[in-house]
Amino acid sequence: MKSGNTIDQKPATSIHWDMNKLLEAARAVKENASVPLSRFRVGASVLVKGGEIFEGCNTECLIPVLGVCAERNAINHALIHGRNDFLAVAVVSDLYAPLLPCGTCLQYMQEFARQQSRDILIIAEGRSGERLVTSVDELFRGGFPPDTTVREIQESLRWSQD
Ligand code: THU
Repeated sequence: MKSGNTIDQKPATSIHWDMNKLLEAARAVKENASVPLSRFRVGASVLVKGGEIFEGCNTECLIPVLGVCAERNAINHALIHGRNDFLAVAVVSDLYAPLLPCGTCLQYMQEFARQQSRDILIIAEGRSGERLVTSVDELFRGGFPPDTTVREIQESLRWSQD
């Protein structure tokens, strides 16, 4: 056995990705937003392990609860293609300042992050060019713990409606 040199048996796998490319995908898909109610366009893109990017824009219809945020549409786009190994989500909107994902989207993302025992990076860019780089766990400390049962969630919702 050689002495003096260390060989990494399990080298950390690093993923090379381009934040600008991810944001560019979000900017491009924002143009497809279907927003008859709010007229507020949002574009999101999700980077999965392996480097592929899946985009989503917000979609609305006259029944407001049927609307879906850009972030969840981007994640669903990846899921439809069999990918759930999310590393980063970029968000852009018509706002001058960066728009951060809503609580519903953060809960959605956090469930996938926890399934994989990792956090997900969030990059939000405003029309001003200002960028916020943060993460799901940083923004969403109060999410349901991973072992929460459906019954417990139903109970907590019942309680909050009292
Ligand atoms: N929206 C998103 O798509 N992402 C966000 O992070 C916040 C809000 C959408 C939902 C709705 O179509 C519109 O923006 C106004 O709330």
